[in-house]
Amino acid sequence: MKISSILFSTLLLVIISFSASMTQTKQTLNLMPYPKSVEFTGGEFRLTHSFAIGIKGNPDKRIFAYATRVLRRLSGRTGLFVPQDFITETTTADTFAMDLIIKRPGKVELGEDESYQLVVKNNKVTLTAENEIGAMRGLETVLQLIAADKKGYYLPGVKIDDEPRFKWRGLMMDVCRHFFDVAVVKRNIDGMAAMKMNVFHWHLSEDQGFRVESKLFPLLHEKGSDGLYYTQEQIKEVIQYGADRGIRVYPEFDLPGHSTAWFVGYPEFASAPGPYKIERNWGVFDPTFDPTKEATYEFLDKFIGEMAALFPDEYFHIGGDENNGKQWSANPGIQKFMKENNIPDNHALQTYFNKRLLGILTKYNKKMIGWDEILQPDLPKDIVVQSWRGVKFLVESAKKGYMGILSNGYYLDHIQTAEFHYLNDPVPGDTVFTPEEAKLVIGGEVTSWAELVTYETVESRIWPRTAAIAERFWSPQSVRDVEDMYRRLAVIDIQLEELELTHIKNYEMMLRRLTMGADITPLKIFADVVEPVKKYHRHFQGVKYRQHSPYTRVVDAARPESMTARKFRLLTDRYIAGDKSVKTEMLSMLKSWEQNHSSLLKLMDSSPVLREIDTMSSNLAEISRFAIAALEGKKQLEKVAKKVNLNDRLAAAAKPYGQVELMLTAPVEKLVRYVQGKK
Ligand code: ACM
Repeated sequence: MKISSILFSTLLLVIISFSASMTQTKQTLNLMPYPKSVEFTGGEFRLTHSFAIGIKGNPDKRIFAYATRVLRRLSGRTGLFVPQDFITETTTADTFAMDLIIKRPGKVELGEDESYQLVVKNNKVTLTAENEIGAMRGLETVLQLIAADKKGYYLPGVKIDDEPRFKWRGLMMDVCRHFFDVAVVKRNIDGMAAMKMNVFHWHLSEDQGFRVESKLFPLLHEKGSDGLYYTQEQIKEVIQYGADRGIRVYPEFDLPGHSTAWFVGYPEFASAPGPYKIERNWGVFDPTFDPTKEATYEFLDKFIGEMAALFPDEYFHIGGDENNGKQWSANPGIQKFMKENNIPDNHALQTYFNKRLLGILTKYNKKMIGWDEILQPDLPKDIVVQSWRGVKFLVESAKKGYMGILSNGYYLDHIQTAEFHYLNDPVPGDTVFTPEEAKLVIGGEVTSWAELVTYETVESRIWPRTAAIAERFWSPQSVRDVEDMYRRLAVIDIQLEELELTHIKNYEMMLRRLTMGADITPLKIFADVVEPVKKYHRHFQGVKYRQHSPYTRVVDAARPESMTARKFRLLTDRYIAGDKSVKTEMLSMLKSWEQNHSSLLKLMDSSPVLREIDTMSSNLAEISRFAIAALEGKKQLEKVAKKVNLNDRLAAAAKPYGQVELMLTAPVEKLVRYVQGKK
């Protein structure tokens, strides 16, 4: 009894002193996506001016430039004048601070090994990987491990064992509704690499634009793009850029619908006579390929052949979504063809078209990927179904034995929170998949649709929310602590700027334009607590958006998720839970909101574009007064309630203005109810 209790206290003492000697814990690591396994081994590796990287083994040479860029970023963050200019070859020397040990060259293809092991000891950092792609993933972890104390910068002593949960971790960029030049695409690919994502889906054709140079059919880009397209040289450059980062780049040519821009140059392949113009509006449109003409397939065969040679990836996306079939129903020739060939309806006609496309893709050694509408019997088992309409389609494709990736729930244009996307799991815990079916879910893709974004705002919609989704795709399913995700996301958000992404810096630039050079502070205080309306409500509030509408208003500058409102919401919850220490901070926030309206009104005199938020700014001041009264006590609140109808006024504050929502209404209402003693 006695001995065991002595033993127990000794053990406890050892554990306590061991923990105290560690400067880092899971709670202070800013890793995202969080690795499969992190073991704290104590101690730390001090970063000094003599830091250098040695690469051993037999990697593809793309690792040299990658490691060099990582070295630059490390030096940029720490101000260390590291001596290595360029890492250009492998070594056998043991004199480097950090060793990369890489067994073999990697292949930028689906299913390649991306695992790595990282060991940080007091005198050495060792990163071991099967191939250089795994090493790249590990190098990003090294950069995220950089920590600081009074003595300088260091990497905490850790042993990390890491590999992805899913092998398809993608970002789709729509470059058609609005065009983004190569520089934008490249820096988003850099963001993907930092978040260990591995596939870039390039949505290249739409009603509103055809974005690739075709040498065989030059009228596609000459007439279908307003001059905004990628040359084939630029396409190759981006593919190489992706490959250099272990990222596959594959194209989508949306067929047979979403195809107006093709027909501006080649109306003969449409299902209704032309002429056609580039579509300037948003929505689902009628133009669609004529699936009954052999000339259509001769054209698509040549075009796909040209693109198949340009894009080396084994997958080729044929779209397939939202073909409304109206042109088919209205065309007597097409109706006759359907009758003669026992094709009962438009869905079956699209199935026929897809089969013909499949033949063309197969001829060029490409595997088909398409939106979930492509799901039909008799497709080969190597196709991939991209589920956008619901998990239900992922289940359906898995039940039929097809591989699928999830995009439903990762639509950035729905303007949902990082939390919402983060908790959306491709294979949910309460899953309806059998283990065999679950294996067919090979990952997911974030989708960045571009109706309502331009080069100024596209990145503030992609980042940082995509980082949270990247963790969902990479990390073990059990990693789903929302608070810890937000804690790390705040750090990662800023690190992403190092890659020239504009998601943070364009905010104030846009506010400056809105105030015509006047002090932006009042506008920023306002914009910090609003969010754009959710889902597709922007299209249904009396504003008709077109391709060349201004995407420069407060709703565009506003971030998809207000971190200030989130903070206030959390403080309110703590207050209600009994933690009155948060009152001072809450009051300080509320007072700045209460006092903001008069300053913002003045700005509106010289910037009439801001008038659309006049009422909401006034509502913000009013509900802030309610919350201040509530924090002062029940009596104060009752005094206010005698003058105005609190319920009516809170309901009024919940209404959108200028297509933004005030994100403080719900917590203020909660606080008021709590103080009133109501649920
Ligand atoms: C889609 O969102 N129409 C794929």
